Amino acid sequence: MGKADDIEQAARVLRAGGLVAFPTETVYGLGADAENAGAVERIFAVKGRPATHPLIVHIGADDQLHDWAADVSKPARLLAERFWPGPLTLVLWRSSRVPFAVTGGLETVALRVPDHPVALALFSAFGGGVAAPSANRFGSVSPTTARHVREDLGSAVDLVLDGGPCEVGVESTIVDVRGEQLAILRPGGVAREDLERALGHPILMRSNGPIRAPGQHPSHYAPRARVLLVEPDEVVGEAQRLRAQGCRVGALLPPGFETSSGAGHAVLLVPESTTEYARKIYELLREFDRRGCDVIVASLPQPDGLGLAIADRLCRAAGPRVPVHIDPTRDARIKRMG
Ligand code: TXA
Ligand code: MG
Repeated sequence: MGKADDIEQAARVLRAGGLVAFPTETVYGLGADAENAGAVERIFAVKGRPATHPLIVHIGADDQLHDWAADVSKPARLLAERFWPGPLTLVLWRSSRVPFAVTGGLETVALRVPDHPVALALFSAFGGGVAAPSANRFGSVSPTTARHVREDLGSAVDLVLDGGPCEVGVESTIVDVRGEQLAILRPGGVAREDLERALGHPILMRSNGPIRAPGQHPSHYAPRARVLLVEPDEVVGEAQRLRAQGCRVGALLPPGFETSSGAGHAVLLVPESTTEYARKIYELLREFDRRGCDVIVASLPQPDGLGLAIADRLCRAAGPRVPVHIDPTRDARIKRMG
């Protein structure tokens, strides 16, 4: 079947209330017709995700913003124009078009225009909004290839569109743009610095509010193996120590360290460039699982640019064992200014 036929068939599946996994530039999504509450409920069942955790509504272009959101603020328009299509999700007041099944009962809605030709072709053929979380089981590692989706969800998905490996590799940055004081709810594919440059002022991270969504859950994006975070120059020593205790150890070595095989059963090297690291992070975590590791020893990258999103995902993969403290002093400074 040709590409155009695949898209048409996927659009028919959505219209019939089915589930379509589709590629985006960040990770693969598990999509349903956003206006069909029954179809949306199937997403939660397939993922094993609690119904109170809201989904992102994916749309084809920023001129549809007003169909799905009420009271679109000036900064919301500015960010949509500057970063869409792209790895940015905006949280706004929902319009009556958005069912509560999508928002988990909230009066707000998360909206995004992804930058992927297959996703955009699907939305255009379908004609409506597509509610979609990442196409993985709740709490596990996000999929960045069509094969990951099939491995995680199998036949529970009606159709998987294969658009190749995802370019960005970590999920979108989520920004609450409702009020005067914008806030990043989840760091992601658009760097905090780029948002601040576009807005002309600093922007807060709001990560320690009440947990109302899966991306903000302390233990999330987790491989099967336990993740242990240490300082970069302690990775090898810690891996060797655990190995001596009889653990099957995976070592994720920071750039510049020698890949000595003595460090673990699986020794993988972090890519030099942060862009490449973001693209590979989930595949690296999956590889340790594939090699049967029971613990992964890793360190955090510098929390700037895409490094902030990678550090966030590693902290969450490590679960509640590690506090998610990414430069709290910077936020304290911004709070005092604003
Ligand atoms: O890059 C991405 O964002 C990917 C692709 C598929 O678009 N999607 C994704 O979806 O990561 P999911 O469901 O795994 O994460 C969606 C996040 C939730 O963790 C939640 O924080 C946030 O979106 N969210 C959705 N609706 C929200 C709302 N009304 N208010 C606050 N946060 C919301
Ligand atoms: Mg997810």
